[in-house]
Amino acid sequence: MTRVSLQNIDRHYGALHALRDVSFEVEDGEFVVLLGPSGCGKSTLLSSIAGLDPLQGGQILFDDQDVSRLEPAQRNIGMVFQSYALYPSMKVRSNLSFGLESQRMSRAKIDERVGWAAQLLQIEPLLDRRPAALSGGQRQRVAIGRALVRDTDLFLFDEPLSNLDAKLRTEMRVEIKALHKRLGATFIYVTHDQVEAMTLATRIAVMNGGRLEQYDTPETVYERPASTFVASFIGAPPMNLLPARVVRGDGGAVAEVQGARLPIPSGIAAQVEGEVTLGVRCEALTVMPAGSGGPEAFTGSVVVTEPLGADTLVWVEVGEHRLCARIPPRDARSLPGEVALAPASGALSFFHPESGQRIPGEAEA
Ligand SMILES: Nc1ncnc2c1ncn2[C@@H]1O[C@H](COP(=O)(O)OP(=O)(O)OP(=O)(O)O)[C@@H](O)[C@H]1O
Ligand SMILES: [Mg+2]
Repeated sequence: MTRVSLQNIDRHYGALHALRDVSFEVEDGEFVVLLGPSGCGKSTLLSSIAGLDPLQGGQILFDDQDVSRLEPAQRNIGMVFQSYALYPSMKVRSNLSFGLESQRMSRAKIDERVGWAAQLLQIEPLLDRRPAALSGGQRQRVAIGRALVRDTDLFLFDEPLSNLDAKLRTEMRVEIKALHKRLGATFIYVTHDQVEAMTLATRIAVMNGGRLEQYDTPETVYERPASTFVASFIGAPPMNLLPARVVRGDGGAVAEVQGARLPIPSGIAAQVEGEVTLGVRCEALTVMPAGSGGPEAFTGSVVVTEPLGADTLVWVEVGEHRLCARIPPRDARSLPGEVALAPASGALSFFHPESGQRIPGEAEA
């Protein structure tokens, strides 16, 4: 089994600081997803774990062994590259066995490993074809197969599904999850697709500009984002964010925004002054006729509705802000032009207006 410990990882490319003091632990058998926008350092971090990119600062441990200075081959990792990197002149069978031959594994053992991976990934009928004669999804499987044949329990994936169409992507996502369950191995998986991250991960490492923004379960990252960056990166549509004025009165502090007055829990009120950024997920907003939502509701006009099938998104202009609510399709049929949006109780997130950092409530602190 393999536990991976990343400690204060740093990487510069000339003046560019690609990884900044990144630290987190991946437990045995976890499925950790590295998520973040293009250029945030995901591939660089994965290459550092594989040993393909030299470390400039920090340490990497597999279980309790420091592997920071080991060559890639000595780290014994199965890796799937974004580009697949299959050898075009070799048949699928040789693409799968190539790495093992250079490891000096016996012929019988190689055949056994290749047969096992081919069966698992259902590519047995393709073994005698060359990559050019395969579909994108089939190439994808071969690339995964080439990682799987290695006798290891640490696998690294760099955006393995990014070249596939939406349908195949969804199918492969399910297969990769099933594969992880079946192998019980440790997976570290790069994507910039937040649906993949939410559905696959035991924990998500959200990265931004070479830094780790948050490392937690998908549920926590979604419901309690550590920053406005995470709040607006995770979720489709992202979390609604609104600047509000903090007003203190006899009944405690409230956040005032566009006529709505939302109570600020006392633990949070003690940490804010002047302004605060409010966050609320679209499914936590109830849409009602204007005037009926009470003092805690935002009032605005419906700009557009987007039917998604299972539910409908309602976009509402509240002052200069645009908020999104997710409602059942039948409720969207007879929407008035002016509506009130009432947040569910306890559904608000609070962020510092300048740093964008989450202000933790009492239960979270
Ligand atoms: N070999 C290199 N030389 C110089 N700069 C590099 C090199 N490799 C990566 N970078 C830079 O380091 C930063 C992080 O790159 P990286 O490839 O890790 O991003 P990424 O998160 O994987 O992005 P993407 O989602 O686009 O694949 C980027 O700004 C990139 O331009
Ligand atoms: Mg990348």
